[in-house]
Amino acid sequence: METKNIGLRGIEVADTKISHIDGEKGKLIYRGYDILDLTENSTFEETAYLLLYDNLPTQQQLDEFNAKLVEARYIPKQMQKNMGNWRKDADPMDMLQAFVAALAGYYDEEFSNKDASYDKAISLIAKVPTIIASWQRLRDGLEIVDPDPTLSHAANFLYMMFGEKPDPEVEKIFDVCLILHADHTFNASTFTARQVASTRAHMFSASSAAIGALSGELHGGANTEVMKMLLEIGSIDKVEDWIKDKMSKGERIMGMGHAVYKTYDPRAQVLKELSRKLADKTKEPWYAITEKVETTTIEEMKKQKGKDIYPNVDLYSASLYYMLKIPVDLNTPIFAISRVVGWAAHIIEEKFAEAAPKPALYRPKAVYVGKYCGPEGCEYKTLDLRK
Ligand code: ACO
Repeated sequence: METKNIGLRGIEVADTKISHIDGEKGKLIYRGYDILDLTENSTFEETAYLLLYDNLPTQQQLDEFNAKLVEARYIPKQMQKNMGNWRKDADPMDMLQAFVAALAGYYDEEFSNKDASYDKAISLIAKVPTIIASWQRLRDGLEIVDPDPTLSHAANFLYMMFGEKPDPEVEKIFDVCLILHADHTFNASTFTARQVASTRAHMFSASSAAIGALSGELHGGANTEVMKMLLEIGSIDKVEDWIKDKMSKGERIMGMGHAVYKTYDPRAQVLKELSRKLADKTKEPWYAITEKVETTTIEEMKKQKGKDIYPNVDLYSASLYYMLKIPVDLNTPIFAISRVVGWAAHIIEEKFAEAAPKPALYRPKAVYVGKYCGPEGCEYKTLDLRK
C-alpha cells in the first residue's frame, strides 16, 4: 500500500469564510476583499477587524476595537521578569512560543463561548508585539519601553523596539507588511492552530502551537533564512555562482517557491516594491541582491528541472525588515505579530462554525509501513535475551 495525499496537498479538510487563494491567478482574498485593495486603502487594525468579524468595521466599531487593542497591549511585569532569566541567545521564536503559552497562566483560559474567545483574540493580538519588543530590549540590556496608547499597532511595535516613534513613511510600510501577512488560508501554522483548536484546546494553546509551526524554515522561518543567505552572498556579483552552487547540490533557495501559487505571490509583488523604495532611500544593496537571487533561481530552475518558480512572501520581506533595522532573527516573530490575527480568526471559526458541515476533531489516517512479524505480532523477548 502506498501513502496517498502526502503533506495533504490539495485535500479539502474544512470550509472557511476567512480567506481564499487563487494560486493560478496569484490572488489573495480576505473575507471577500482583495489583499491589494486592503494594502492600498486599509490599516492593520481595520484588516484585523475584518478577518475576525467578517465585515469592515464602522467608525464606531473600529474605535472600540482600537481601544480594546490599546488597553490589552501590556503584559504582566512578572512575565517580563521571567524573560530576563532566559539565555540572551535563545531563539526568539522559542521565546515567543513559550510566553504565548504562558499567557494562559496569567489570564482566564475559559474558551467555551464565542465572546470570550474574541476577547482572548484581541488580547493575544495586542500582546504578541509587546512580548517580542520586551525580549529584544532585555537581550540588548536596555530598559523595556511601555506601549504608547497614542500610536497605531505598527508604530507602537517599532516604538517599543527602538524607543523612538517611527516616521510616518516607515509606519506605513510596516503597517502594509502586517496587512500582507495576516492570513493565508490553511498554511502550516494556521492548520496547526485549527487542529489544536479542534480538540477544544484554548486560544493561547492553539496559538503557541501555531508559532512552533511557523518557526520552521520551510514556513515562516524562511524570512530569517533569506536574510542570512543575502548576508552570506554579500554582493550582487556573487549571486549567480552562489545560487547555481546550491541548486546543483539540490538545496532549496529560501524565499522561492510556494505550495499553492503557480504564479507570482501577490504579497511578494507589494513587498518587492516596498523593498525597492526603501533601498532607493537607504542606498543599501539588499534589494538589488534579492532581485538577482530571484532571477537567477528562476533561470536555474528552468534549466535544471524545466519548471517555473516564483518568489514567495518571505523573499522581499527579509531585505525590507533589514533596512528597517530589525534584527535578522526577529523576521519570523514579526510574521507572527500579523499572522496571529489569522490564527485567532481560524481558531474561532474552527470552534464556533454555525453552519454545516461543522468542524470535527482532525484525525487523519496513516499507512503503517513498520515492522510486521505475522498476524500474532512480534515475539516479545525479555532484555537478557535480546542481542
Ligand atoms: N529552491 C529550489 N528548488 C525548489 C524550491 C526552492 N525554493 N522550492 C521547490 N523546489 C523544487 C523542489 O526541489 C522540487 O523539485 P523535484 O520535483 O525535482 O523534487 C520541486 O521544486 C517541487 O517542490 P515541492 O517541495 O514539492 O513543492 P512545494 O510546492 O510543495 O514546496 C515549499 C513549497 C515547501 C514552500 C518550497 O517551495 C520550499 O521549500 N521553498 C523554500 C522555503 C520557503 O521559502 N518557504 C516559505 C514558503 S511561504 C510561507 O510558508 C510563509
